[in-house]
Amino acid sequence: MDEPTFRTIFEPFRIHSVEPLRVSTRAERREYLREAAFNLFQVRAEHVLIDLLTDSGTGAMSRDQWAAIQHGDESYAGSPSYYIFADAVRELFPFEHIIPVHQGRAAEKILFSVIGGSGKVVPNNTHFDTTRANVEATGAVATDMPIPECHDPSSQHPFKGNMDLTALEDLLASRASDVPCVFVTITNNSGGGHPVSLENLRGVRELCDRFGRPLFLDACRFAENAWFIREREQGQGDRQVADIVRDMAALADGMTMSAKKDPMANIGGWLAMNDEDLAVACRNTLILTEGFPTYGGLAGRDLEAIAQGLREVVQHDYLRYRIRSTAYLGEALLNRGIPVLSPFGGHAVYLDARALAAHLSPLEYPGQSLAVALYEMGGIRSCEIGTVMFGRQPDGTEAPASMDLVRLAIPRRTYTQSHIDYVIEVCEQVAARADALPGYRIVDEPKTLRHFTSSFEPLD
Ligand code: F0G
Repeated sequence: MDEPTFRTIFEPFRIHSVEPLRVSTRAERREYLREAAFNLFQVRAEHVLIDLLTDSGTGAMSRDQWAAIQHGDESYAGSPSYYIFADAVRELFPFEHIIPVHQGRAAEKILFSVIGGSGKVVPNNTHFDTTRANVEATGAVATDMPIPECHDPSSQHPFKGNMDLTALEDLLASRASDVPCVFVTITNNSGGGHPVSLENLRGVRELCDRFGRPLFLDACRFAENAWFIREREQGQGDRQVADIVRDMAALADGMTMSAKKDPMANIGGWLAMNDEDLAVACRNTLILTEGFPTYGGLAGRDLEAIAQGLREVVQHDYLRYRIRSTAYLGEALLNRGIPVLSPFGGHAVYLDARALAAHLSPLEYPGQSLAVALYEMGGIRSCEIGTVMFGRQPDGTEAPASMDLVRLAIPRRTYTQSHIDYVIEVCEQVAARADALPGYRIVDEPKTLRHFTSSFEPLD
């Protein structure tokens, strides 16, 4: 008999334990905003109703992950949990050396402290903020090379996360010896959460081979990227996601990973590579800063939660729901005339604050203003990805970022469709009054990564 088909794509899980949501009033939220100096990173989580600040470490673990946690072995050296973790990683990313760390930025810090330094330049489709900061902290330059379509909100290119191969070739042709490695971020989070195609990765590999440079993946959202390849790239539609992931890994010499994203854990990460000398140098730094090489900065139980998460994230039912539910939010906003980046990425929908609050100049921080308004209106916490995050230049000047976005990141397996329907309604109400959004100024800012701790004030 033919299998019946249905339009509804439902959450492929049922709820096993619940956390209460704390409802606040608008008047209370105005007060919380003042206390937090209009910086949403400074708002207490219990004062947030729907938390879309990040998809990092905020997902719900499965029954089997909690069971795996019970199985964790806390031996200092040689824990069986390490081998369970390393085997699960190698199943998808068969690199020689798998080095656990407490989260992605620790992998970045260790790697760039070994291969970075002044005079070096690291190309990436788009560096995530901590990746850029870790490159720059060594005195090296971090260069973003997305394809031009990445910054065109109206472009429907299926792989807007792709690397600009011409720009990469130019850089390598002029100064390959200054490039310690080429990075590709899958999916391209800071560029809009867009995927990178296998074809583009092969092009990057070919350039790396031609100029003798290693290729590393920043692979936080590898499974979402692989699902997009399956859906959008010619000849990939019948393949298993796990096989596509192995293809991506086979093109690289190493990777950094935050296990707080697609590996479905609340903490963790790893650094992996094939090069023996590099691994020895990285492990020596690891022991100084994170811990012994069979646990990194993690407990044995965390390693087991990651191993189980890796098995779950490549399941097609999960990925179909994940990508479809993110698109559900994006489509609803688009249908209400709210400017969002499309095609939609996997882990987030990005509001185009520069278009929505066109009366504000980028240096009046339209993204910050929109994010604050979403919180004040409905208790939704989002994240500015724009001039606040990227505007401060290494020479101390300030310049507009290429886009002013507000990211609505969707924690994995955490919110239901009715939560998202509420988010859509709040966005609609804020968008209806967008021409009255105030600009902001920064009252106080730290030297780096200013979006986390700066204080803001609305302009009159
Ligand atoms: N690379 C990418 C592409 C990321 O998105 C992140 C984190 C990291 C590296 C660093 O990993 O947080 O484990 O140290 N992104 C989170 C976010 C924080 O909200 O997008 P980490």
